[in-house]
Amino acid sequence: MIYQCQSCGYISKKWLGKCPDCNNWNTFSEEQNIDIKKNKSNKTQAVAIPLPEIELKKIIRISTGFNEFNRALGGGLVTGQVILIGGSPGIGKSTLLTQILNNLTQNNIKGIYLTAEESAYQVKLRTERLNINNPNFLIISENNLTNAILEVKKNKPEFLIVDSIQTIYSENSSSIPGSISQIKECASVLIDYAKSNNICLFIVGHITKEGQIAGPKVLEHMVDTVLYFESESTTSFRIIRTLKNRFGNVNEIAIFEMTSFGLKEVVDPTNIFLEHREKENIGSVIFPLVEGSRIFLIEVQALVSNSTFSMPRRHAQGIDPNRMNLLITVMEKILGVNLFSNDIFINIPGGIKVNDPAVDLAVVVAILSSFLNKTIDTSCACFGEVGLNGEVRKSSFHKERIKEAARMGFKEIITPKNNEKDEKFEKTKILSINNINFLADFFS
Ligand code: TYD
Ligand code: MG
Repeated sequence: MIYQCQSCGYISKKWLGKCPDCNNWNTFSEEQNIDIKKNKSNKTQAVAIPLPEIELKKIIRISTGFNEFNRALGGGLVTGQVILIGGSPGIGKSTLLTQILNNLTQNNIKGIYLTAEESAYQVKLRTERLNINNPNFLIISENNLTNAILEVKKNKPEFLIVDSIQTIYSENSSSIPGSISQIKECASVLIDYAKSNNICLFIVGHITKEGQIAGPKVLEHMVDTVLYFESESTTSFRIIRTLKNRFGNVNEIAIFEMTSFGLKEVVDPTNIFLEHREKENIGSVIFPLVEGSRIFLIEVQALVSNSTFSMPRRHAQGIDPNRMNLLITVMEKILGVNLFSNDIFINIPGGIKVNDPAVDLAVVVAILSSFLNKTIDTSCACFGEVGLNGEVRKSSFHKERIKEAARMGFKEIITPKNNEKDEKFEKTKILSINNINFLADFFS
């Protein structure tokens, strides 16, 4: 017996409280000794091929029936592609894959939904809700991998969904289902099957408390594409982000809305993120966000109030809290505002997590507005990265951001100074600034 870290796969002869490799606590559990020799096969001889002799095949993309999802995949599915989908419980993984499998299995193409978590009856109940009754949609409810694969082979599907990798087990490993060696073993059997039969395989992966796909960083290395449901199930919007993609760009997002008839694509996200905007705005400003190949407007809200605590509260929802603290310090230093005795909250409504550094200026403007208790014009948008000296740096997609804000009728856009000439818009004024100093005049 050996002990293996369930987070990163580190192996130790004795139990350890903290993993020396990934620094996680309490992640070691007993595993069967892995016999490396067993998996080695020397039957085929390796051959070196000169690069020009390898023929490039045109990638044919298969539509999943959702344009949003296709874009997140880089244009659609590729035959033999293996996709891992992670997300917290109840977020909609099974719902999404049920809908996608139904779309893929029209026109006599077979697809199998292998469920190890739910009974066939439970899957049927979901399909009833989604109004799906498709004879090419086959359900296998089984958690023994060997039995499941036998049945899959018999049916020769073109698409296979495994829900979930943590609940299925292989007899070749004596560890409990969900342990890292079980996950690795089951995933490698499934991936081998998918690759050698050119079928598209979707694997559902649970996530840990910290939001990572449970156990298998290893699993992320084995698959072609990793998708992740990023939003919380408290809002009805579901944002799926591409974390890894061998067949397309990363950081693309797909936006869906959970309705009583399953997931619906959100075609124009600007409208939904600005839906509940008040007329009078203190502490709220609009920011043109870039996510992959998409630009849309979101609201950035700040609330600044006198603190009754000796340590004021600081909370950021939707942006990195460290970034917020840094911006607060820059504001204190450059704008001379005393924020140290205030509670400060930042919120991005709609459940999206913003990693785009150009959000900085919007955060600064929102905090300043709430602190000074002065309204921001509802038709004002802003973007720009803020440096430690308060300088506003040029952001990527400068023109495209302005264009999207102008399209939505925003009359004033605060932007970083740009060397090239900005496009002229009839109804939109562009204010280019190179330091947050300027904001003092903006609110006076
Ligand atoms: P599910 O796909 O089972 O989540 P996961 O597989 O990620 O755990 O979705 C669960 C939630 O979605 C559940 O709370 C019910 C809700 N739901 C709807 O709101 N509308 C629907 O049409 C369906 C099928 C589910
Ligand atoms: Mg599920």
